[in-house]
Amino acid sequence: MKQVKKGLEGVVALDTQISFIDGVHGILKYRGIEIEKLADLSYDAVSYLLIYGMIPDAEGLNEFSRELRKERKVHPHLLNMLNFCDFENESLDALRTAISVCAHFDEDSHDISEQANFRKTIRLIARFPTMVAAFYRMANGLEVISPDPSLSHGANFLYMLRGSRPTELEAEAMEKDFILSAEHELNPSTFALRITASTLSDLHSAIISGLCTLKGPLHGGARKGVMDMLDDIGSPDNIAAYVQEHLEHKKRIMGFGHRVYKTYDPRARIYRDIARKVAMEKGNSHWFDLAREIESVMYHEMVENKHKPIYPNVDFYSGVLYKDLEIPSYLATSIFAIGRISGWIAHCLEQYGDNRVIRPRAHFV
Ligand SMILES: CC(C)(COP(=O)(O)OP(=O)(O)OC[C@H]1O[C@@H](n2cnc3c(N)ncnc32)[C@H](O)[C@@H]1OP(=O)(O)O)[C@@H](O)C(=O)NCCC(=O)NCCS
Repeated sequence: MKQVKKGLEGVVALDTQISFIDGVHGILKYRGIEIEKLADLSYDAVSYLLIYGMIPDAEGLNEFSRELRKERKVHPHLLNMLNFCDFENESLDALRTAISVCAHFDEDSHDISEQANFRKTIRLIARFPTMVAAFYRMANGLEVISPDPSLSHGANFLYMLRGSRPTELEAEAMEKDFILSAEHELNPSTFALRITASTLSDLHSAIISGLCTLKGPLHGGARKGVMDMLDDIGSPDNIAAYVQEHLEHKKRIMGFGHRVYKTYDPRARIYRDIARKVAMEKGNSHWFDLAREIESVMYHEMVENKHKPIYPNVDFYSGVLYKDLEIPSYLATSIFAIGRISGWIAHCLEQYGDNRVIRPRAHFV
């Protein structure tokens, strides 16, 4: 038996055409296109790119967006069922249950043919935001808002969440958030769902594997962790003590570090920019300034202790952005999933398209 690589670090498990990461130079591409170029497109266009492998022309995009907007409504039974969910801590638990219930209402649920998978793709991408907004409103005793087909994916989500239309900048920020969260090669949740798909289990089941894996604080749950950390730190005066205490006791600072990036995560830079703009529009840069200071203290602590710098990852400034969009932290992981769904589906389709069951070995000790 060959040497075990703990955490599968550096192990190349499969070929993919969906995304590419150069962790040394901080490059991320979806389908060969740099993330910096994609961040200004619509989430619909980027989802199309991830799933079909090309940027749609105007007609293709219109058709795809029309289909998505048509499918935003969820089954009333699902809303009734959401009432039983515990909303207190982590909304992802409710989303996971909701997807499971959705499968029971989906006539294509067990069909993994290409045609059925494309039909389910539209329904899943379209309905994730509706479900997350609905359980937020129900948890807070508010009336559930129906989707507005005249709004973009991002604007419609904020509208359903708040009951009022977002500003143009807020809508743009939400679209960017979904795009930047959409895909990241063989991260833990994507690997988990590719394993599920490789057994020829259905799309809903694979997505549930992805959701369960995203939840952990070392993966998508870090975004919630960042928001809670900002609350805990509260003021710039507390940053140095917080960071030092964490590093001294080998506790993780949420939103920092990455298995693949050894430099600045390119998504963090785009998030930082949009988070700053949203803070400026609000006329209150408390959270943004606090985050900048945490980043600076973290860098200097690392350099002073002769440790390689640990840079912010995708979850750091996205957490700051959510604070400024007044999104509660218990929604953060679910909102991450709203973006990630198109990348997840692209990976399932790629797996079904050239399948061999994923079954590694363990070294018996
Ligand atoms: C993302 C993460 C899980 C990657 O883990 P990994 O590739 O296994 O990295 P390691 O645990 O081997 O860390 C390497 C070193 O950096 C340190 N380190 C990594 N991330 C750190 C963080 N966020 N805070 C403090 N120290 C950190 C480790 O303590 C270790 O130090 P050492 O060499 O002195 O022992 C890790 O960086 C982390 O826990 N980050 C916080 C959670 C987070 O933001 N997750 C979202 C990822 S997108």
